[in-house]
Amino acid sequence: MNISQEEKTELETLYQSLLNDDKVKRMLDIPMHRGSNCYIHSFMVAKTAINRALKKKKQINLRVLLYACVFHDYYLYDWRKDRSKKKGHGKNHPSIAIKNAKEDFDLPDESAKIISSHMWPINFKNFPHSTEAKLLTLADKRIATREFFISKKKKLKNREKLLRYISTLF
Ligand SMILES: [Fe+2]
Ligand SMILES: [Fe+2]
Repeated sequence: MNISQEEKTELETLYQSLLNDDKVKRMLDIPMHRGSNCYIHSFMVAKTAINRALKKKKQINLRVLLYACVFHDYYLYDWRKDRSKKKGHGKNHPSIAIKNAKEDFDLPDESAKIISSHMWPINFKNFPHSTEAKLLTLADKRIATREFFISKKKKLKNREKLLRYISTLF
């Protein structure tokens, strides 16, 4: 899909405002997939999904997709430390992420819907029907798989590189 320079600038501005938000930055302290963290993960997912969307012919709501990507794992607890959260984390965290994001930001309803289906097939009944939902689900699985297979040591070494990579959307 083609987007104008103006739309690109608008999206980049929104991305920057979320990236530099102190509440969003709390995800830096939430570990994820051996040596990664929720913040890097979420913005990697956002960049991947948006870039994929731009290659599609179909019109996609990029603003809605960006919100969904940034907040899909905005659950803000470390399930490795909080044992009460460990059980059911896979199923429950999308609704916790939505609740937190609605409290802290103007999360669009369409983005909430997309977030709710991102754990398919774990949440088997909640299939990602829309193109935006499919883009998030696929980007999330792709980034998570990559994070899972890279060693902790390499990840910590690459941290600055990844932070530089996610520092802009385009
Ligand atoms: Fe998730
Ligand atoms: Fe995720």
